Amino acid sequence: MLINLCTNARQAIGDEHGRITIRLSERKAADQPVGKSVVPHGSDVLLDLGVSDTGCGIDKETLEKIFDPFFTTKKKEQGTGLGLAVVHGILQKHKGEIKITSTVGVGITVHVYLAADGRKVDKKSKSVRRSRRQ
Ligand SMILES: Nc1ncnc2c1ncn2[C@@H]1O[C@H](COP(=O)(O)OP(=O)(O)OP(=O)(O)O)[C@@H](O)[C@H]1O
Ligand SMILES: [Mg+2]
Repeated sequence: MLINLCTNARQAIGDEHGRITIRLSERKAADQPVGKSVVPHGSDVLLDLGVSDTGCGIDKETLEKIFDPFFTTKKKEQGTGLGLAVVHGILQKHKGEIKITSTVGVGITVHVYLAADGRKVDKKSKSVRRSRRQ
């Protein structure tokens, strides 16, 4: 997912100087900003993966189509239109959600929300491990 999102960000920035920002944060499910979403589906912790860029941005009309398989605005050798369709498919499988906001000429922000069900963040090793149930 991250590779697809970052590839899109890099392509949106093109040859200009730009910035891609990746953030990962935990939220309490009660604070989740995703309305009637299926997330977090039984978990009290929600992971929020944010990827934003300072690229060309997406207009409203295009935004409605970006998850459609084979929808692309790129030249043949630059895109097949499957990157976001794959991301969407992965999130459906894991009961996650994706939100994209954009301003044309300024860039986009993507938020991927996933339930951190049954997992705890190990602060010492910075890794995510499955908690033991007794
Ligand atoms: N970060 C972004 N900035 C601007 N437009 C974007 C961004 N990410 C996606 N898009 C738009 O959404 C369309 C679909 O993206 P998607 O990743 O599904 O396909 P693609 O990048 O065109 O091709 P592929 O990922 O298969 O190589 C893109 O063609 C582009 O118009
Ligand atoms: Mg892509």
